[in-house]
Amino acid sequence: MTGWVMDKQIKILVVDDERVVRDGCHRVLTGKGFDVLTAENGEQAMDILPRESVDIILLDLKMPVMSGEEVLEKVQDQYPDIPVIIITGHGTIDTAVECMKTGAYDFVTKPFQLEQFLLTINRAAEKRNLGLKAKQFEEENIRNLYDLDLEKSRLKTIINCMANGVMVTNRNLEVVLHNPALMKLLEITGEVQNPVSLSQIIDHEDIIETLTWIQSDRAQDGEIISQEIKTGSSVVRAISAPALGPDNDVVGSVTVLEDITAFKQLDEMKSDFVNMVAHELRSPLVSIRQQNSVLLEGLAGPLEDKQKDFLERGMRKIDQLLELINDLLDIAKIAAGKHVQHLVPTDIDPIINETLALLETRAEDHHIQLNYSSENPKPVLADAKRIEEVFSNLITNAINYSPDGGKVDVSVAGLGEYMEIKVKDTGVGILEEELPKIFDKFYRVKHPKTRQVMGTGLGLAIVKGIIDAHHGTIHVESAPDKGTTFRILLPVITSHG
Ligand SMILES: Nc1ncnc2c1ncn2[C@@H]1O[C@H](COP(=O)(O)OP(=O)(O)O)[C@@H](O)[C@H]1O
Ligand SMILES: [Mg+2]
Repeated sequence: MTGWVMDKQIKILVVDDERVVRDGCHRVLTGKGFDVLTAENGEQAMDILPRESVDIILLDLKMPVMSGEEVLEKVQDQYPDIPVIIITGHGTIDTAVECMKTGAYDFVTKPFQLEQFLLTINRAAEKRNLGLKAKQFEEENIRNLYDLDLEKSRLKTIINCMANGVMVTNRNLEVVLHNPALMKLLEITGEVQNPVSLSQIIDHEDIIETLTWIQSDRAQDGEIISQEIKTGSSVVRAISAPALGPDNDVVGSVTVLEDITAFKQLDEMKSDFVNMVAHELRSPLVSIRQQNSVLLEGLAGPLEDKQKDFLERGMRKIDQLLELINDLLDIAKIAAGKHVQHLVPTDIDPIINETLALLETRAEDHHIQLNYSSENPKPVLADAKRIEEVFSNLITNAINYSPDGGKVDVSVAGLGEYMEIKVKDTGVGILEEELPKIFDKFYRVKHPKTRQVMGTGLGLAIVKGIIDAHHGTIHVESAPDKGTTFRILLPVITSHG
C-alpha cells in the first residue's frame, strides 16, 4: 500500500484556506491509504506540527493570517526533514519556483491532475522514507561505535590491570597486544609499539617454538601448552593457546605468563626438608638394622624361636622404611637433575641378568616363572646403577602385581637406533583410566587382589625420571586380568654421536 513506509502510515498535513481543496485532498489521499490531517492556515499548521509526527506537508501559498512562504520558512527552520509540496494556482507559479529554490520539495498546480498529483505525493513519500532510513542507520551506527568504543576501553583496562602477563600474536607471529605486566615479567624497559616481531619481546627458543607449533596445522584442536621459563631473576609459567577465528581456524595465539618464583622456592624448600629428614632417618635406621642382624645371626647369644620371630618381623618393617627413604632421596635427586650423572657406554644384558638373579628368590616364593631373552643387543649411553634401578622396579612390580603361578618375560632387542626393553607379566593388569596416573609420585592403584602388596607409589615415578634423563621413552600397555607390558626405548650409541 502506498500510504505506508517502514511499518508506519505516512501522515500528510494539508494546509489550505479553501475547504474544497482540503476536502478533496483528504478524500483522495485517505483513499490511497495515507493518514491525512488538515489545517486552514499557517497558524493552525504550526500548532499541529509539534503534536503530530507529520511526514509530508502540502502547502498553499495564498492564505490569510500567514503566507505560505512564511510557513515554509518556519517549517524548514524547525522541521528540515519534512518534505513540503507547494500548492499553486496559475498566478503563483513564479512564487512556487522561488519556493523550490529555497528548499520546497516540489509543487502541484490547481486544479489538480490526479495522476500527476499522486505521483508527486508518492515521490515525496519515497524521499521521506529514505530520509528516515538514513537517519535510523546513522543513529544505529553511532550507537554501535559507542558500544564498540566502550567495550574496547573496558577490555583494555582489564588487560592493563591484570597481574599476569598477556601477549597476543597474529598469524605472522607478530605481537599485536601485550600488557604492562608482561613487560615487567620479561624485564623489558621502554615503549614497544604493536605490532612488533615476537623475537623482540621474547627470546626464549621454547616459547617461539611453541607458538610456531600452535599456529601450524600439525597442532591438535585447541591444544594448550604450558612451560616454565627463566627470565632474569624469576621463574615464569607460560600457558599458550591458539586464538580461533570465526571459522574456527587458528588466527594467532594467546599466551598468559605468571610469576611462579615464590612457588618454586617453596617447592624447593619442601624438597630440601624431605631430603634432610630422609637423610637423618637413614643412618640410625641402617645401624639398627645391622645390630638386629647381629642378634638374628645369634652372634650375641642363642635366640628362642619367639624372639627370632619378633626380630624378623621388625627387620621387614625396617626394610620397608629404608625402601621408602631411599625412594624419597631418589625422587629428590631426580627433581634436582642429579640422579643420573655418569652416562657411559653400557651393556644392558649383564645388568638385567644381575637384577633377575637378585629377584629370583622373590619370584620363587610366589611360584612365578622368570624368563629372559636377548636379541641383537647394542651398548647404550647409560648410568648402570640407575638402569639397574629401572629394571629392578619394573620386575619387582611384575612379580608383586601377579597372582601366584604367573609368568614374567623380560626381553631385550636392538631395533635400529633404539634398544627395546620389555617387561611383560600375566598379572592383575591396570584399568585404562588408571594408566596415565601410575607414573605419578605416590600413586598406587587400589585393587582388591594387591591390597597386601607393600609399596610407596614412588617406583614408577623414579623409573620415568631415570628414563627421561637417558633420553628414552617408556610406555605401558595393560588389560585387567590379562597382564601388563612396560616397553622402554633407549637410544643406542651411533658412530656419529
Ligand atoms: N606390572 C604391574 N601390574 C599391575 N599393576 C602395576 C604394575 N606395575 C605397577 N602397577 C601399579 O602401579 C602402581 C605404582 O607402581 P609403583 O610406582 O612401582 O609403586 P608401588 O609398587 O610402590 O606401589 C602400583 O601401586 C600398582 O598399582
Ligand atoms: Mg613398585
